[in-house]
Amino acid sequence: MKSSDKILILDFGSQYTQLIARRVREIGVFSEVKPSSISIEKILELNPSGIILSGGPETVTISSSQKVHKSLLEAKIPILGICYGMQTIANELGGSVIRSNIREFGHSEISYVNHSVLFDSVSFDSNILNVWMSHGDKVEVLPDNFEIIASSKDCKVAGFQNLDSNIFGLQFHPEVTHTNQGETILSNFIFKVCGCRKNWSTFDIIDSMVSDIKNKVKNEKVLLGLSGGVDSSVVAMLLHKAIKNNLICIFVDHGLLRLGEVDEVMSTFKSLDIDIRLIDASQLFLSKLSGETDPEQKRKIIGNTFIEVFENEAKKIKDVSWLAQGTIYPDVIESSSDDHNSSVIKSHHNVGGLPEKMNLKLLEPIRELFKDEVRKIGAELNTPEHILKRHPFPGPGLGIRVMGEITSERISILQKADKIFIDELKSEKIYDSLSQAFVVYLPVKSVGVVGDERRYEDVLALRAVETVDFMTAKWAHLPYDFIGKVSNRIVNEISLVSRVVYDCTGKPPATIEWE
Ligand code: XMP
Repeated sequence: MKSSDKILILDFGSQYTQLIARRVREIGVFSEVKPSSISIEKILELNPSGIILSGGPETVTISSSQKVHKSLLEAKIPILGICYGMQTIANELGGSVIRSNIREFGHSEISYVNHSVLFDSVSFDSNILNVWMSHGDKVEVLPDNFEIIASSKDCKVAGFQNLDSNIFGLQFHPEVTHTNQGETILSNFIFKVCGCRKNWSTFDIIDSMVSDIKNKVKNEKVLLGLSGGVDSSVVAMLLHKAIKNNLICIFVDHGLLRLGEVDEVMSTFKSLDIDIRLIDASQLFLSKLSGETDPEQKRKIIGNTFIEVFENEAKKIKDVSWLAQGTIYPDVIESSSDDHNSSVIKSHHNVGGLPEKMNLKLLEPIRELFKDEVRKIGAELNTPEHILKRHPFPGPGLGIRVMGEITSERISILQKADKIFIDELKSEKIYDSLSQAFVVYLPVKSVGVVGDERRYEDVLALRAVETVDFMTAKWAHLPYDFIGKVSNRIVNEISLVSRVVYDCTGKPPATIEWE
């Protein structure tokens, strides 16, 4: 059977698994991630051109760790094992893996030992290639019919291959940019070993999504909850291209949006000729939240009220058959690998229960895309730049940035301060270099003095972070002068604030939002 020009990535729990998938796509070939526990039958059904086994935190030297199925290694599909992925291949095929006395983390140098197609067009400078390692265990004895292709000072088997069965292993991480020419190594595996053809460019993606939507939806109407965030906005642009006026967007104003946001979103989409309907439910949300101080309860109230409002509005629109959602690939991967026993840190606002409740068919046109791909196709679809470059904004909005009880006065103070902070970040051209920036309202009274008057008012905190995946984040080192200017403006322009502080806590140990 002809394979489908797709690389399957089996996730053994590495922090780099999604990065591998993104790199393969950047190279121009479709990739998908599945948990390492997936059955061999399912893998054969997916019919990949090649498989990459990711790294992982476990050790193959204990029996309970997740291993690659031996039958997969005999299935005649090209395989590349990276780090733990390599060790599990060695272990299953009769080689041996030991715990190493010397662990290699970070930069390392490998040298070329035997010819390998993986190293075609890779230049080893004085027989040295700079790579990124992160391992404790190492392959000690090769399985039969394997040969070493690269070694490092502390790791004799830094790469191996079996050309008869097209199985390769690398102890280092070619997907990480610190590995020199890692992209060439991955490209060699994808094109030269697996024989894939390029099939993943912005043009291909849009084209296939639009025809997919048309085939599915035909002449039926689609409803979309539009928040003005990147994901739902790009879904709106895509659906509009595919089905024009059969798309109806609902924008719920829960009263917890940023200053001017309602007008901005409405006028942006109206000017694009998209049918967008505003539902002002701010009073309802505020009354339901009245007196509530618990962060999780606040999130639940906002989530449930959102569903209630959306459902009521949807009922008023006749003949709708579909509900579109802006689910993206990381959400899909996270929910499919739920064997990871991670504890719930925050219950994220989602509208997952809506389609069944409303008896609608679910349409998720961007569920195969990573965030950077969503931005790329968004740009190609002429989504306004101010939308594509917006920092993420949580579903519960300012509701989780007002600590404790939410009141309209507190929301109003926060909206004004947030606008000052964001406007200054934009005018100083700092905004685009940050991943997220916002203000938090603290219901803590503090003493101040303005002129000869004593002031006893609330405190605001500025938060700005840099992150790639929002799972971890660094607090941004904003210039002191800049923080000073923002603080001055806030305290001078908003009389109900006596003090501004800057949050210099990373994630972990803190989270990005305060609640
Ligand atoms: P935390 O605070 O968990 O945030 O470090 C990570 C990212 O998720 C966003 N976030 C949310 N998004 N509903 C959302 O849609 C939520 O309840 C929610 N809580 C946090 C947060 O803004 C950051 O980008």
